[in-house]
Amino acid sequence: MSAMASLLFHLLCCLTVFWLLPLPSHSADPDPLQDFCVANLSASISVNGFPCKPASEVTSDDFFFDGFTQEGNTTNAFASFLTPGNVLSFPGLNTLGISMNRVDFARGGINPPHSHPRASEVGVVIEGKLLVGFVTTNNVYYSKVLTAGHMFAIPRGLVHFQLNVGDGKALAYTAFNSHLPGAAIVPLNLFASSIPNEVLTKTFQVDADLINTIKSKFGS
Ligand code: GLV
Ligand code: MN
Repeated sequence: MSAMASLLFHLLCCLTVFWLLPLPSHSADPDPLQDFCVANLSASISVNGFPCKPASEVTSDDFFFDGFTQEGNTTNAFASFLTPGNVLSFPGLNTLGISMNRVDFARGGINPPHSHPRASEVGVVIEGKLLVGFVTTNNVYYSKVLTAGHMFAIPRGLVHFQLNVGDGKALAYTAFNSHLPGAAIVPLNLFASSIPNEVLTKTFQVDADLINTIKSKFGS
């Protein structure tokens, strides 16, 4: 290969890499192809998202959601309750690439470590005092104690939590760049699924009794 041909080949390789590099960052939900597409959650066909309800049947109500008016019931093991405002509870969000949660905490309540495979998260504390933290893929931990009016950000896919460290209740609203961000809740993924005990004992280097004790906390 001549020097010029080799130079051109390398230039082409570099251009290809630079063209491909940004592609993974096109990672939130795709842009909608119409003004709206109120989800028909009961349609029998399956697409990436949900099919649209016919526009002639869409009403104002499809674009409003009153699911955040009630405080969540925090009488549970985590002493917290998450009310989702995503495409499943609010079909008007279908294809819009956004959603929100209301998260209520009793005193000492925790929204346990979890991650969202399809979205980054932002949140704002409305009431109380929350320790908010996340861990990077290199196991670096970032955290802050937040009170009313403070906002936080959780990069897409990273494990994070909120813990009520105040003297009373706490309330936060969170928002996502996906109409269905998904939530992989670490303790439930590991201890409330059918992952074999052998995997868990070997992973955590403990005996089966301890794994069974932890599993019993999650009803499995
Ligand atoms: C909080 O982390 C939430 O997912 O709403
Ligand atoms: Mn979250």
